[in-house]
Amino acid sequence: MVEPRDPRTQSEGVVAGYAHTARRWPSQPLVVRPHDTGELSGPAKLERRLPPSKADLAGRGANRALGQLIHLRARVVDEDGAPVPGALVEIWHCNSAGKYLHPNDASDSPPDPNFHGNARLIAGDGGLVELRTIKPAAYAVPDTDGWWRPPHVHFSVWGRVWLSRLVTQMFFPGDPLNDHDAILNAVRDPEARARCIARLAPTTRGPANALVYEYQLVVRGRKAAPRMP
Ligand SMILES: [Fe+2]
Repeated sequence: MVEPRDPRTQSEGVVAGYAHTARRWPSQPLVVRPHDTGELSGPAKLERRLPPSKADLAGRGANRALGQLIHLRARVVDEDGAPVPGALVEIWHCNSAGKYLHPNDASDSPPDPNFHGNARLIAGDGGLVELRTIKPAAYAVPDTDGWWRPPHVHFSVWGRVWLSRLVTQMFFPGDPLNDHDAILNAVRDPEARARCIARLAPTTRGPANALVYEYQLVVRGRKAAPRMP
């Protein structure tokens, strides 16, 4: 069965001040039908078509990206908490000045030639992907009335079956902009919002001189991560 979209745990269809919302969510109720091979099969030979990259966006030495070094430990699990090994996880975020490595980012924030911007990783046996990178900055959303996005990291997950497909965002704990972000707060249930926020972990779990953030990506079920563009 297609899971109904719960407006408490997934973004509402239309959010004031966030004009794109209406275009990003279905305007009609979902059609319920039994799962068949269309849902229960998955993308074949994904790693060949989408080859993994290095698990490091920060670089080293003279080629080190500007910004606070962080180490992300994201675990991909299913609705029962079982790891999803082999999941292909794409991760992207802006640099420490709030600039994306993307032609659509027209802001005048400076690019960082040493920041690589995106990574594609394969989850290990425990469903874990790890990425050494720098903390992204907050940035102003163009053409809005002073809306600033809090620092966040985008995730796209391809699991073994099409039902495991998930696109979402991870936020940092304690950032005051979290309380005002239209995308995060389009999710009404505080518990569901809390699942979008990473946890600061002991630094012993990462490489030297990096703050460690742990995050769990639940790809489906009642505790699924809210879907975000
Ligand atoms: Fe973003």
